[in-house]
Amino acid sequence: MEARTLAVVLAAGKGTRMRSARPKVLHEVGGLSMIGHALRTAVRSGVERTALVVAPDATWADRLGGDAVTLHVQAEQRGTAHAVLAAREAFADTMDAVVVLFADTPLVRPATVDLLLERVLGGADIAVLAFRAEDPTGYGRVLLDEDGHLAAIREERDADTAERAVTLCNSGVMAIRGGAPTEALQAIGADNAKGEFYLTELVAIGAERSFNMVVEEAPFAEVMGINDRGQLALAEAEFQRRARADALAHATLLAPDTVYFSHDTVISEDALIEPYVVLGPGVAVGEGATVRAFSHLADTVVSPGAVIGPFARARGGSSIGPDAKVGNFVELKNATLASGVKVNHLSYVGDAGVGAGANIGAGTITCNYDGVDKHRTAIGEGAFIGSNSALVAPVSIGSRAFVGSGSVITEDVPDGALALGRGRQVVKDGRSPVKAKTTLS
Ligand code: UD1
Ligand code: MG
Repeated sequence: MEARTLAVVLAAGKGTRMRSARPKVLHEVGGLSMIGHALRTAVRSGVERTALVVAPDATWADRLGGDAVTLHVQAEQRGTAHAVLAAREAFADTMDAVVVLFADTPLVRPATVDLLLERVLGGADIAVLAFRAEDPTGYGRVLLDEDGHLAAIREERDADTAERAVTLCNSGVMAIRGGAPTEALQAIGADNAKGEFYLTELVAIGAERSFNMVVEEAPFAEVMGINDRGQLALAEAEFQRRARADALAHATLLAPDTVYFSHDTVISEDALIEPYVVLGPGVAVGEGATVRAFSHLADTVVSPGAVIGPFARARGGSSIGPDAKVGNFVELKNATLASGVKVNHLSYVGDAGVGAGANIGAGTITCNYDGVDKHRTAIGEGAFIGSNSALVAPVSIGSRAFVGSGSVITEDVPDGALALGRGRQVVKDGRSPVKAKTTLS
């Protein structure tokens, strides 16, 4: 029979050291909240179910609940053991193993969670994930007895000088066998400097009760905990390092350290990303596509062979068709460009659909907003929009229609028509105000 396993994700702590109006676990790494990362790790690991522990005011958590993730409220934040017990109904009686994850530890890999679970399902009562820290300040220290067995985890506030010198630290990830070891959570007291119920106390209790306890080690970069914004920046840097390495497996980044990825960025084979590019959430760059320098993309699909930038911005559900070209100082917002479209210079294309092969001249603006509502612009296949045109939406330009340069288009243009919407030019002979004696050099 399959083992029954549960991840308990702790996200109720206040995180006061962030000094933020926003709850700590909603701060983002790679454009995804830390709680999002922790839940993703849980869901991608082999656990059967996940229990999320939140504070009573976490109204944001409602949308995270569901079949696979149950929500549990910790009424008062009285420590990590107290928080795990808030999810007790999720693991009482039936679970073979429970693994605890901290929502402020966003970079843990699912495989590491599985490793701890394997240790417990393989016979250990408790498996602790530790790491070696160059600077262990702030972390709980993992204390071993003379035989190298796990004896206790000491929080920094409660540690003496010798214990503080220990560099083996507690990551917070802990797998606990169902039955006696999980029941022992209830024996944890609050006899420490903070007067909190510490999950880490389970280890001292386990030592007394001769539990079989094991330690696994992970690199610091994977298990760093985020309690302040300096650590948040460190986690972001590590996230970016990983994302760049993943992309470099099959794509070219001319200056990897200057390209910023998000948690869901997809870079296909042979894509080329030039220096100083920011890819916000929801970006996919297709095979052989190029993102040129200093571009900012979010919620945008760049199809195979397309080129965007330099200095381009695309957002709001945009899609750039195969082999299309979007050039410098162009902004796309919720714009769908079909294959081979060209918008090469200085344009705003918003709430628009552009048919295959259309050419949008320099300085074209879709006037999508009337001050109250947004409206759409439709541009047909092969249409040609002359430079410096304003297309006042809602409006549609037919296939192979031609809009004269400098036009303000307020009415639909049929297929194949020529539309001119500008003042007629007047030429008056000899009326130039430039004086005759002005020397021209
Ligand atoms: C904790 C560990 C420490 C470890 C470090 C790793 C304890 C007592 N200490 O310390 O050994 O080295 O993480 O990063 O476990 N939380 C709740 N309810 C509470 C308290 C906390 O849900 O009442 C949650 C927090 O939201 C957070 C996690 O538990 O996600 C850890 O709490 P935090 O206060 O950050 O503990 P640390 O001091 O970092
Ligand atoms: Mg922490």
